[in-house]
Amino acid sequence: MTTEPVFDAAIPETAAPEVEFISLSHLNPSTELNPVPSRGIDLKYFRRYVRSLEEGGYDYTLLPYGSNSADSFVVASAVGQLTERLRPIVALRPNTTFPTVGAQKLATLDQLTEGRAVVHLISGGSDAEQARQGDYLPKEKRYARTSEYIDVLRRSWTEAAPFSHDGEFYKFDDFGPGFAPYAAPVPISIGGQSDEAFQVGGEKADIFSFWGEPLDDLRSEIERVNGIARAAGRTTLPRIWVTFRPIIAQTDQLAWEKAHEYVAKVAATFAAAGSAARRFVGNAPQNVGSQRALAFANRSELYDRALWTKTAAVTNAAGASTALVGSPETVAAAILDYVDRGASLVSIRGYDTLADAVDYGRYVLPLVRQEIAHRKATGRRGTLQAEHLGNYAPEYGQYATAGQP
Ligand SMILES: Cc1cc2nc3c(=O)[nH]c(=O)nc-3n(C[C@H](O)[C@H](O)[C@H](O)COP(=O)(O)O)c2cc1C
Repeated sequence: MTTEPVFDAAIPETAAPEVEFISLSHLNPSTELNPVPSRGIDLKYFRRYVRSLEEGGYDYTLLPYGSNSADSFVVASAVGQLTERLRPIVALRPNTTFPTVGAQKLATLDQLTEGRAVVHLISGGSDAEQARQGDYLPKEKRYARTSEYIDVLRRSWTEAAPFSHDGEFYKFDDFGPGFAPYAAPVPISIGGQSDEAFQVGGEKADIFSFWGEPLDDLRSEIERVNGIARAAGRTTLPRIWVTFRPIIAQTDQLAWEKAHEYVAKVAATFAAAGSAARRFVGNAPQNVGSQRALAFANRSELYDRALWTKTAAVTNAAGASTALVGSPETVAAAILDYVDRGASLVSIRGYDTLADAVDYGRYVLPLVRQEIAHRKATGRRGTLQAEHLGNYAPEYGQYATAGQP
């Protein structure tokens, strides 16, 4: 159990006034709980998945990218045509696409979706994975390249006359005017937790993203990125995106039973994948985001109201892997704790992917939105966080450790 905080009705100064929801899109029914041996797209499933996100009230969906994944641009274009409102976030590694071509593809997606495109720039967290597609730059250089890439993207979208560029990584002549986005430049997000990621993200990104971390640690990281943004003379700070893998059930106790069952299955899947899984993660991840997640998992299994790190520990923190465990009310309250620290984009994706996307849309999103609406209407916090204490109350800790060896 952690010390119970005081839930003052005053809205914290650091709180984000709005929150929008993201969920990563899955292309087929294979999950970490129940792996189905297929690498392909199950079109019927994918259609259902993205429509469920839209119906569930999500705002964005991330189309991830890896050397063995489907192409995120092509999938994003399909999302655009299968939905009316959901905004596709294309994960893009600069090494895969020349920046003026990247700008052209993103502007095309933005036009095809009437202004819904977002790009998430991935500088690359593993040298071995980068080498699979011919990228041999060390990580700090990859981030320097991302920085130059952002400049070229924005100029390609906004310059009214042809321009030339002669930078450290890219050189071209007489490009433009490029194909323009629908109404405004496409928002640019940065993923990564290394010093270089902070530097580029703080100076240039519209959005800076994290995997779920303990509240105080996340707040210091937000201050760090904001400090860099201010030092760069920015008046608009990057929006903060934080990602979780919630495990919910009707009560906290039932959610914990599910969590223990899930972590055993996820661990078995990861172990069964053996060297295939390690091919993408390695024994010791090189990306700082995963290193941080593993360090938190080593320090404690449980943090704050509902953050659980065991799911990260059993998967070597490959990708977003920290959970929020509890009833919909407890998980919504935990999400609000992050909103209070400054997160305005919350990504949630479960282990039972499609069923969880539907459940969050039904039971979690409305609670968070109701609290935000209450705050707007009254200028005060509502009672959700004070009433659903999760780990700040004694019984939650007992459920969390029940069934443990
Ligand atoms: C929300 C989020 C989404 C991410 N999506 C991807 C992805 O689709 N593909 C990928 O290779 N890395 C992805 N990453 C990982 C990092 O961006 C990547 O490892 C980073 O470029 C280097 O890590 P570092 O700066 O933490 O060392 C994502 C990271 C975050 C925070």
